[in-house]
Amino acid sequence: MRTPQHSPAAERNLPPMLAELQRILPAKGKALEIASGTGQHVAGFAQGLPGWQWQPSDAQTDGFGSIAYWCDQAGVANVHPPVLLDVLAPDWPVQTVDLVYCANMLHIAPWACCAALMVGAARQLAPQGRLITYGPYLETGVTTSPGNQAFDADLRQRNPAWGLRQLDDVAQQASLVGLQLRERVQMPANNLLLVFTR
Ligand SMILES: C[S@@+](CC[C@H](N)C(=O)[O-])C[C@H]1O[C@@H](n2cnc3c(N)ncnc32)[C@H](O)[C@@H]1O
Repeated sequence: MRTPQHSPAAERNLPPMLAELQRILPAKGKALEIASGTGQHVAGFAQGLPGWQWQPSDAQTDGFGSIAYWCDQAGVANVHPPVLLDVLAPDWPVQTVDLVYCANMLHIAPWACCAALMVGAARQLAPQGRLITYGPYLETGVTTSPGNQAFDADLRQRNPAWGLRQLDDVAQQASLVGLQLRERVQMPANNLLLVFTR
């Protein structure tokens, strides 16, 4: 069933995310989106980056109808049907890609998912490929905004294994598999977009 799920935050975040992807990425390529959620992002990315083929995925299938709905609404033909992909799985059901994109998963999943994301991205990315993550992070020497402090506390209360991640820890996990943090982009509402390459 193509039942839409709508996230106001996903809708708000889409335009600035897309603008950054349009700035950073070449005109063509293959992308894997991890943790696609409602599908609002992949539908917008497919529309705004028509030279790219998009593969949405999530660890749960309950958003798959919503992903199809938003892609229908956007009128895009460059999005493959979503696949079930848990980053913790030893094999991901996808081919080599030029971009692995993951928004707003690292803080709402156990820390082991960060290492798994890095290992999987390093395995799936073409030599010149990029891993781009988006979300709120904690940073050494940077005062965490009151909104992010409250969000972190709320996440940890909901699940002690969740919580905002330290940017340095995320970058270190990436470097363990040969991915280096190349760019840190300040995004609206105290989010960051991080670009990793080999
Ligand atoms: C807060 S939502 C973010 C959805 C979307 N990326 C966005 O920014 O609106 C978090 C998503 O992470 C997914 N997720 C959680 N654990 C995961 C895992 N181990 N592997 C892949 N996806 C996971 C959830 O199913 C959910 O769709």
